[in-house]
Amino acid sequence: MSNPITKLFNVEYPIVQGGMIWVSGSKLAAAVSSAGGLGIIGAGSMKPDVLKEHILKAQSLTSKPFGVNVPLLYSGAEEQINCALDLGVKIFFTSAGTPKKFTAYLKNKGAVVVHVTSSPELAVKCMDAGVDAIVAEGYEAGGHNGREEITTMTLIPQVCAKVNIPVIAAGGIATGAGIAACLALGASGVQMGTRFLMTKESSAHENFKNLALQSLPHSTQMAMRSTVPVRLLNNQFANEIKKIEETYTGDELKTKLTEHLGKFRAMNGMHKGELDQGELEIGQVVSLIKSVPSVAEVMRELIDDYQKTISRLPKNLSF
Ligand SMILES: Cc1cc2nc3c(=O)[nH]c(=O)nc-3n(C[C@H](O)[C@H](O)[C@H](O)COP(=O)(O)O)c2cc1C
Repeated sequence: MSNPITKLFNVEYPIVQGGMIWVSGSKLAAAVSSAGGLGIIGAGSMKPDVLKEHILKAQSLTSKPFGVNVPLLYSGAEEQINCALDLGVKIFFTSAGTPKKFTAYLKNKGAVVVHVTSSPELAVKCMDAGVDAIVAEGYEAGGHNGREEITTMTLIPQVCAKVNIPVIAAGGIATGAGIAACLALGASGVQMGTRFLMTKESSAHENFKNLALQSLPHSTQMAMRSTVPVRLLNNQFANEIKKIEETYTGDELKTKLTEHLGKFRAMNGMHKGELDQGELEIGQVVSLIKSVPSVAEVMRELIDDYQKTISRLPKNLSF
């Protein structure tokens, strides 16, 4: 398959594994790249020395291109970017901040730059900032999310109508049929987080994966709408946050949330398997996932399902 995204990243399939704090290290990123997609190391949870280790390891595990995701909301983004550039990384996905901050700097260093957006307006700002492609991420997605709460189905065509650079759809995609739907809406590629979290190579804790396997369609919720919205698997922590947001307003709400957050909840939940009090970021699509296979198996299944879906289309679309 050859299209603007496979050409941009020099990969076989327009399938990107989204950068995920505490989940996407060298093992996952290298496995996805080796299987023909684009693997991404999630730098957000890594100090530069740890990031360096992961980049070197990924370079030893695969000869294929891989990228680094840098969420701009955490301090240390600049150090992470420079660490990756020094080690020869050429593909950067930035998120959770303004695309103006690092795009020109990265482009001057010869890197391919993609920024993650959750609205058509921000997509235009990304294009104006000079990015090579945009990830348009809908409200179904796991992890930090846009305040606008626009679903993937409505977001993708609106972003595609506003920009003239390739669009990568994200949020709620875990099957080949999902990929076909996003390409039909105008995207040139897809980014998946939750599907790759639920693989053998991800660094998510086994407890988290096992709990996630039992998910029903309503097993996730959007938490922290008043501060930084994030989609989480329902658990005690997520329910406590919900109660605080329903009970308090204004400064009192801020104080209560500050008291409750922090405490290494994301690391403890996703990486160490603390299921009650940890933060368990995951997307709505988790309820479609019934096994934890290897990345190679997931990629084969995605391509197979994609081919079957498009071969059925003429029959399914005739009315
Ligand atoms: C556990 C987890 C951690 C994530 N961390 C990040 C991150 O550090 N940076 C980022 O840009 N996106 C992050 N995301 C979003 C993913 O990169 C991806 O866009 C999203 O998961 C796609 O939606 P899906 O979960 O429905 O596949 C995270 C998602 C999950 C599930």
